[in-house]
Amino acid sequence: MIRPDDGHLHLRDGAAMASVVGATARVFERAIVMPNLKPPITTVAQALDYKQKILSSLPENTHFKPLMTLYLTDETSPEEIEKLAQTKDLIGVKLYPAGATTNSNAGVTDLRKVWDVLETMQRCNVPLLIHGEVTTQGVDIFDREYMFIRHILDPLLENLSTLKVVLEHITTQEAVDFINNGEDRLGATITAHHLLWNRNSIFQNGIRPHFYCLPILKREEHRLALVEAAISGSPRFFLGTDSAPHAQSAKENSCGCAGMYTAPAALELYAEIFEHYQALDKLEAFASFYMADFYGLPRNTKQITLIKQAWQMPDKCALGEEVVIPVRAGEMIQWQIE
Ligand code: DOR
Ligand code: ZN
Repeated sequence: MIRPDDGHLHLRDGAAMASVVGATARVFERAIVMPNLKPPITTVAQALDYKQKILSSLPENTHFKPLMTLYLTDETSPEEIEKLAQTKDLIGVKLYPAGATTNSNAGVTDLRKVWDVLETMQRCNVPLLIHGEVTTQGVDIFDREYMFIRHILDPLLENLSTLKVVLEHITTQEAVDFINNGEDRLGATITAHHLLWNRNSIFQNGIRPHFYCLPILKREEHRLALVEAAISGSPRFFLGTDSAPHAQSAKENSCGCAGMYTAPAALELYAEIFEHYQALDKLEAFASFYMADFYGLPRNTKQITLIKQAWQMPDKCALGEEVVIPVRAGEMIQWQIE
């Protein structure tokens, strides 16, 4: 197959980044890199600096192109968006509702505060990448995505009628329906973990912190809706791993962080799912064409080969001075890259 692109990736910073970037670069040609660092990437200059750090952390003989994003805050200026639109290494702006997830405290508190920025994005054809969950106190954690679509995303799209939007890491039937019924300017990424597991996995014989991510895993019927969308051949749904490494100590904690580290077997896990549903013929377009098409980028041309040969995921991987527990730690993965 043509080398894939990862539509949604967390690489972190410093020594942690140097430990994880190779896992993605070994397979993916490009990845859209999330800006939720501490402090967040809020200016074009910071994004370009971060990109250089990523490139200088790459293992030898890897060809990997990070596509950078800006973190939208209440203070983002329309001028910064105009600058972004002129800079080819930046691809879009990420909206984190304040408090929705890891390092989102600097996120947007009210969309009305960034309306001029959103209008500028629309005018300059800059896509908005959305963490689609409401943060309203009292809304059940399993309803946060659905409530966001209904009360925030739908009116947003109505008021900004040509803004390009990616609803990231979708987790529900409602999200799938919303994308399918929406216009072409609306796309969505789907993670491997939301295709593989439902919310029971978080509570299998005890509480399993390594299955805690945001948006949280949902009921089986939602997982099946995501599988159907991913294998449907619709170009509106594309691969985005949301691989999100956290140190073991930060996950196995009385207040554990959200995030699943899938990068060491990302494409291989998607292959398992697509094979299970007899849809391997749909994998290449989902993984390697639709993200590029949506963002108006050239499709990749180099190839990789996936072979069906089992291998064992290590129990842990390095994360700077610490370790991170990857998904399927110590278990077998059915596919590998030749
Ligand atoms: O599970 C998640 N982890 N969801 C997010 O939205 C953020 C990510 C992270 O950065 O750890
Ligand atoms: Zn993410």
